[in-house]
Amino acid sequence: MASTNPTSNAARSPVTPAEFELMKKTALFGDDDVRALRLSHDVLHDQVEAILDVWYGFVGSQPHLLASFSHPVSGQPQGEYLAAVRKRFGQWILDTAQANYDQRWLDYQHQIGLRHHRTAKNRTDGAEASPIVPFRDLFALIFPVTVTLKPFLAKKGHSAEQVEQMHAAWLKSGLLQLTLWSHPYVKDGDF
Ligand code: HEM
Repeated sequence: MASTNPTSNAARSPVTPAEFELMKKTALFGDDDVRALRLSHDVLHDQVEAILDVWYGFVGSQPHLLASFSHPVSGQPQGEYLAAVRKRFGQWILDTAQANYDQRWLDYQHQIGLRHHRTAKNRTDGAEASPIVPFRDLFALIFPVTVTLKPFLAKKGHSAEQVEQMHAAWLKSGLLQLTLWSHPYVKDGDF
């Protein structure tokens, strides 16, 4: 099963499974990476809350990032929104580590993109935060997300090589997912 996220009543992805296969080749993402991600599931599944503490700590420490979770006029961070998104973020860690790339997963990736974009941001939680996550921050966040994951990947006694493989697989998966999420930000016909 791909996304087990209960909110995944997603629209059809504009990206076909065949196109996603080619995107994987572009990223040098292969069966070894699928195996490394699934190994990371064993390593990470009981560390999800600790990982989220680190990632939320980073976003919360950067006012320009926290702005996406804040009211656009008052600048007040929206606590309930942060908490609701955190639950889906936790599920996303497990989904990413499960690495099951079926149509449902592709459709859910499209949904996540729409939720960062003004098309659907705030809608899932009825939030009153800023209307869009700016595109300029989307890909850059992959670095802090993956570099801070590494100590968690190393916590269960795997070899340095296995940790490297899991880390690289997470980076590639992150790049591929962010690219799928970018669809609503790209001019029609240019994706
Ligand atoms: C590596 C880049 C990123 C990753 C992996 C990531 C991951 C996620 C995930 C997993 C969700 C929940 C998706 C769901 O609904 O199931 C989410 C939602 C969200 N993310 Fe990101 N994100 C990234 C970049 C950013 C950036 C740069 C910001 C700006 C602060 C941001 C702000 C948000 C917001 C505000 C939501 C809630 C959207 C809504 O209203 O539903 N994200 N993100």
